[in-house]
Amino acid sequence: MQVTMSVNGAEVSREIEARLLLVHFLRDHLGLTGTHWGCDTSNCGTCVVLVDDEPVKSCTMLAAMAGGHDVRTVEGLEQDGVLDPLQRGFMECHGLQCGFCTPGMLMTTRALLDRNPDPTDHEIREAISGQICRCTGYATIVRSVQWAAAEQAGTRTSLPEQDDSRTSSAVGSAS
Ligand code: FES
Ligand code: FES
Repeated sequence: MQVTMSVNGAEVSREIEARLLLVHFLRDHLGLTGTHWGCDTSNCGTCVVLVDDEPVKSCTMLAAMAGGHDVRTVEGLEQDGVLDPLQRGFMECHGLQCGFCTPGMLMTTRALLDRNPDPTDHEIREAISGQICRCTGYATIVRSVQWAAAEQAGTRTSLPEQDDSRTSSAVGSAS
């Protein structure tokens, strides 16, 4: 069957099998490997993309169901060479270590900040409750989102207190 959708602002059309999952369409047919594929059982959340601005676990959605819709992946966060505030926040506040969960974290929290630009700690933790991170303990992820919220609002005056010196380099990168 033929499927046509918008991905990161560009229309794409491919011949696919009806059973193809959206995560595999993005990774294998479009080469957008920034969207990770982890558990395949709807538990880990690393495969989250935005469909019509709503976070969706792309391992739970058929590519055919995304036909006619707007899909946004982690590759679409950077605009004209400028990183999204969340990508910068994750770098500044060490919101990742191995980076495997990061694409899903970024897309889920992008959707959060789009509807709630000043979330509380609890609201951030609630938003990412469908995501699993085996590395960070979540505290630095929450801090990264707070950094991004303040950056977007123009109210950030200094870096939040940090509890380690680990560096990060894989925000939004493919693997
Ligand atoms: S791969 Fe989709 S939730 Fe884990
Ligand atoms: S940074 Fe490794 S799983 Fe989250």
